[in-house]
Amino acid sequence: MPVYRTASDAETIALGARLAPDLPRGVVLLIGNLGAGKTTLAKGIASGLGAAAPDEVSSPTFTLIHEYGGGLVYHIDLYRLEEERELATLGLEEILDRDAVVLIEWGERFPRLLPARRTEIHLRTVAEDEREIEVRFVTPDGGIR
Ligand SMILES: Nc1ncnc2c1ncn2[C@@H]1O[C@H](COP(=O)(O)OP(=O)(O)O)[C@@H](O)[C@H]1O
Ligand SMILES: [Mg+2]
Repeated sequence: MPVYRTASDAETIALGARLAPDLPRGVVLLIGNLGAGKTTLAKGIASGLGAAAPDEVSSPTFTLIHEYGGGLVYHIDLYRLEEERELATLGLEEILDRDAVVLIEWGERFPRLLPARRTEIHLRTVAEDEREIEVRFVTPDGGIR
């Protein structure tokens, strides 16, 4: 499981762009506290996939879902979602049926809704501007590589 360190938001964007081509389609959970850099990393991933420029990617805090690159990338933030059943109204299932990279912040709040095969990117705040970022490819048997 690769672990990376970044020392600025620009470095996190650059890392996201570098990781993007190796991310499988499907759910990519961005896991970390408020301010850990989840949205910042999403900017890099969307730009690395050619779906949007980093400045075009903003936090989907209120609309919950943003779509970039004509359905190539979805960016979802479930922070404000209170109940699992509200997810149905978002059309998440339909999105997961598409051949898209689906970036989700706070998706780990709803573990039952997560596909067994998914990518998890864990972000930890090490110091004010330093982040540790770890990529885990989770397989249906519960394995991680
Ligand atoms: N190395 C870093 N990587 C990402 N963000 C950083 C880093 N250092 C400082 N920051 C700051 O931390 C904040 C991260 O915000 P954001 O990406 O919205 O976090 P989240 O979506 O996890 O709540 C921004 O204000 C950003 O400028
Ligand atoms: Mg965010």
